[in-house]
Amino acid sequence: MRLLITGGAGFIGANFVHYWARRHDGDRLVVLDALTYAGNRASLPELDEGRLRFVQGDIRQQADVEALLREEEIDTIVHFAAESHVDRSIAGPEHCVAVNVLGTLSLLEAARCVWLGEDRVAHRFHHVSTDEVYGSLSAGQPAFTETTPYAPNSPYAASKAAADHLVRAYHETYGLATTISNCSINYGPYHFPEKLIPLFIVNLLEGRDLPVYGEGINVRDWLHVDDHCRGIESILAAGSAGELYNVGSRNERGNLEVVKELCKAVDVAFAADSDLATRFPAAPPAHGAECASRIRFVRDRPGHDLRYAIDPSKLEKELGFAAEVDFASGLRQTVQWYLAHETWWRAILARGSYREWVDRQYGDAEEASA
Ligand code: NAD
Ligand code: TYD
Repeated sequence: MRLLITGGAGFIGANFVHYWARRHDGDRLVVLDALTYAGNRASLPELDEGRLRFVQGDIRQQADVEALLREEEIDTIVHFAAESHVDRSIAGPEHCVAVNVLGTLSLLEAARCVWLGEDRVAHRFHHVSTDEVYGSLSAGQPAFTETTPYAPNSPYAASKAAADHLVRAYHETYGLATTISNCSINYGPYHFPEKLIPLFIVNLLEGRDLPVYGEGINVRDWLHVDDHCRGIESILAAGSAGELYNVGSRNERGNLEVVKELCKAVDVAFAADSDLATRFPAAPPAHGAECASRIRFVRDRPGHDLRYAIDPSKLEKELGFAAEVDFASGLRQTVQWYLAHETWWRAILARGSYREWVDRQYGDAEEASA
């Protein structure tokens, strides 16, 4: 296969590149990424030029994307590129819509022009979407299936829902061979430290508080990023054009439960390795305190969805998908990854734009909770 991976320098995209390179030797991988604040070339593996090419560019530059599709004879697009953070979409919805909706439209147009022209090319356009398009569940409601009506609540979720509809329309109207995956929340390596798990790990290592929104009762269905990649792999291998597949692992947990488990994993890591107290002297276990002592409840996210839960039965039954990483070991591995890749996250923390975001976001929240 000759794959174009948009957003391949972001969290899931980069993990997908690592995953695919490990398992598909002969394939050509071309990453197209604008390197926004969330993109990071250092997240990509070092592979020879015959296997991996990195192109810095915007999915909204349709002519450039068309040229790249032709030059590289791409047959498969895996579309990750997006503004992916709910809090940032609340702070600035226009940009989120411009990238997620118009960017996806532009990419679809490029694919249509190149693949459905006079010389029709065998192809697949896979769009990576989210469970957030389905809206929020109350405590006893059944998990989202592929026929659950869309009811997005945040600007981010609305923009992903709009993009999903465009992908569907390009299949129905023009015959583009599309598939969509709606995935639950991911965790794992190379995760930008503005999202819950990586933010809380680096906060602990730096001796900062852990700002839990509201009462920490919101439930998410946590999936290790490798299992997400495995799900996309099975869709690319055997998914039917025009279909939508939910990806999840039936791992619902409240935020406070996740945070407490994370705290325990960091406590255990420090207990097992005395060097960590020297490397991270501000971390609670370096001076005899438990990580959970840094939990603080702060002002809730506006429109904070109570619960997401994915029913992955279709993917399991039709395509043989099975999630493999259990949450406790996935979380431990993730903590170990951040401990072993301090240079990766310190480079992000050193950026003025990162500190500005964190101060604006949590300065306000802490004032509100005081
Ligand atoms: P991320 O924010 O870590 O990465 C996004 C990447 O897209 C970055 O590398 C960024 O530079 C790039 N990008 C942004 N705008 C671009 C543009 N205009 N042109 C080219 N590149 C651009 O996001 P992520 O968490 O890796 O999410 C990837 C995809 O998966 C997104 O579409 C997201 O909606 C979806 N998703 C994420 C999760 C999750 O838990 N993180 C869950 C389900 C679905
Ligand atoms: P997050 O990691 O931001 O992912 P998403 O953008 O997909 O919502 O949030 C996951 C959950 O954690 C969500 O319910 C909000 C909550 N959360 C906090 O409680 N505190 C935080 O500092 C962050 C970033 C998230």
